[in-house]
Amino acid sequence: MSRLLPKTAFALGLFAGATLATTAPVPPAATTQVTAERIGDGIAAFLPPGVTAYPHSLALLRTPEAEGAVPADWPIRPRFDRHDGKTRVTVTVPQGADLYGTGEVTGPLRRNGESITLWNTDNFEYAKDDGKRLYQSHPWVLGVRPDGSAFGVLFDSTWRATLATGSDIVFESSGPAMPVIVIDRASPQAVLKGLAELTGTMPLPPRWALGYQQSRWSYTPDTRVLQIADEFRKRRIPADVIWMDIDYMDGFRVFSFDPKTFPDPKRLNRELHARGFHSVWMIDPGVKIDPGYKVYDSGTAQDVWVKDAQDHDYRGTVWPGAVVFPDFTRPQTQQWWSDLYMDFMAQGADGVWNDMNEPSVFNVDGQTMPDDNRHRGGGELVPGPHLEYHNVYGMLMVHATREGIQAANPDKRPFVLTRSNFLGGQRYAATWTGDNASTWDDLKLSIPMSINLGLSGQPFSGPDIGGFSGVATPGLWANWIAVGAFYPFSRGHTIKAPQQKEPWAFGPAVEQTARIAIERRYRLLPYLYTLFRQSSVHGVPVMRPVFFADPRDPQLRAEQQAFLLGDDLLVVPAFAQHPALPQGIWRTVSLVDGDRADPLQATLKVRGGAIVPLGRIVQDSNENSFQPLTLLVSLDARGQAQGTLYEDAGDGYGYRHGEYRLTSYRAERQGDTVKVSIAGREGRWPAAARPLVVQLITDAGVIAARGKDGKVTLQLPRAH
Ligand code: NOJ
Repeated sequence: MSRLLPKTAFALGLFAGATLATTAPVPPAATTQVTAERIGDGIAAFLPPGVTAYPHSLALLRTPEAEGAVPADWPIRPRFDRHDGKTRVTVTVPQGADLYGTGEVTGPLRRNGESITLWNTDNFEYAKDDGKRLYQSHPWVLGVRPDGSAFGVLFDSTWRATLATGSDIVFESSGPAMPVIVIDRASPQAVLKGLAELTGTMPLPPRWALGYQQSRWSYTPDTRVLQIADEFRKRRIPADVIWMDIDYMDGFRVFSFDPKTFPDPKRLNRELHARGFHSVWMIDPGVKIDPGYKVYDSGTAQDVWVKDAQDHDYRGTVWPGAVVFPDFTRPQTQQWWSDLYMDFMAQGADGVWNDMNEPSVFNVDGQTMPDDNRHRGGGELVPGPHLEYHNVYGMLMVHATREGIQAANPDKRPFVLTRSNFLGGQRYAATWTGDNASTWDDLKLSIPMSINLGLSGQPFSGPDIGGFSGVATPGLWANWIAVGAFYPFSRGHTIKAPQQKEPWAFGPAVEQTARIAIERRYRLLPYLYTLFRQSSVHGVPVMRPVFFADPRDPQLRAEQQAFLLGDDLLVVPAFAQHPALPQGIWRTVSLVDGDRADPLQATLKVRGGAIVPLGRIVQDSNENSFQPLTLLVSLDARGQAQGTLYEDAGDGYGYRHGEYRLTSYRAERQGDTVKVSIAGREGRWPAAARPLVVQLITDAGVIAARGKDGKVTLQLPRAH
């Protein structure tokens, strides 16, 4: 019956009372059955008893539409009930399945037997609650069965919740019963594509955001910022971005500049640009209560602030002292906040860093607003308590930020970094994993953290390289940058005291390790950019767990030291002990002089059957790295390899109108020769006449040949 209903029927709630597929035991208090509908290829939505229409969702791109009945043999069905005054959903985990995702989490990559709280929390050194609640919430679990097939469960609720991933997945929410979406597909990669169909993908970032970035709380005054930039260039350590932490502001008033230390931000941005750097500037949500300060005055005039239970403007304390907080659930507030970026971006800033947006509040227990604070909503958002909107406060903020900087610079791709976010928030901002510490534990933890974020829809993440708090020993910092050069988001950052943590701060040996590691990243930029493009289209992560190489291999399921970049490059940190690596041909490569001789560098291996495009070493991503373009070729057992390269202007939106080039390369061994040719092209970005170097990685070493792009033949020595 349901299959005959129009596509929009689900959204309109026409299924109430229909005969619907369910195996759920009906809880005693339930008035109706669970509503189940197929909403996509291998995707089913389940509405709890009593809910007849899919409510507006902040995680999803759009309200799901019914496409037909859920097949009778659909394997994963949530059960809804009430427990301890909470709304509970239980999902039985299939025998032998490994669980992943659950967003930004400490602990192991494999999530079986874990339990977390979804309540965005400013968690310095991940110390609070033993790191079981962090800055972001992703009510999402990915499961991989022993046969490599996979499923994902999305609990579509923003309310405070706990998520336990044992033999059952149990989601307990302080809010009302919520829809649950289950994806069931042939592989974890296919499930993540399904998640992207539901929650969207990361928009393609500007290419400069893939470069190495340097931050500190804070580089001040402006002359210090330029010194840091000059130091990178003088020492020939590639870098693209310098970050401005809160001290550039005038008394921590957002959208202001300290008249003494940052008197002319426009000039500073110009000077940075002249040196090939981009700049990212911090903006926090708390607005200083300060009559006469224009952001406070205009916000008050437009009545944008979050209210307390008595309907007064809620006041908290953060860096500036007493502050009020924009209520981002209101469309008026979104517009007001977006508009503030017009003048700000006109100073020449390239990106924005939204911090403290859990929101963090200093002067209260719980370090955030009271649960009963009021958000007034509007548009599609209903009014609701902070308990409902807390977990999306950061996401709603970065939505408005992104809109604002896009409106200010319509021809550029926005770059926003956020500390707090929610499932689906990859649509608006990249992220870092907050205030880690300079410890070996946090270095090791950073790898599963970023992988699990990628397995939860957020591909653009990384930790503070070197650790935010505490003292990094030279050995720790060197090991960290050696692997940190391969995080999707690669930024060194540190707290104020007691230490400088730039690549040169630990002496010449560490500086050389850092230079090599970062040069390796820059050689890989063409490959990385191709992966970012792929991720922005399909939602697959940039940084992937090793088990993606073979989801059927049980040995790989818990590997969390080594990781994959895309499908073709395996990164094995120098500190990895007995890593479980995929079967098949994986050939170790050198990208930069000296990288194989430096014991701290990660080992890089290219999959047999892959072609990895490389640029030359450049000091920043503005430089043309394709002189020459290098193709690293690693043949499979049949003597073949394939790879792709994505290119476009690096910024702007021409690529949306065909101004890009996606080139597929093919390599084939024929007797004593290996031919490397272009197998296909997409896009109308003109083909560049450029030199090409092909490096064939063989077990006996590298054989190189030069030629024209797409037309290179290597002569193999007779022994091959
Ligand atoms: C907290 C952030 O997590 C950290 O990265 C930043 O340096 C400080 N706030 C100061 O703005």
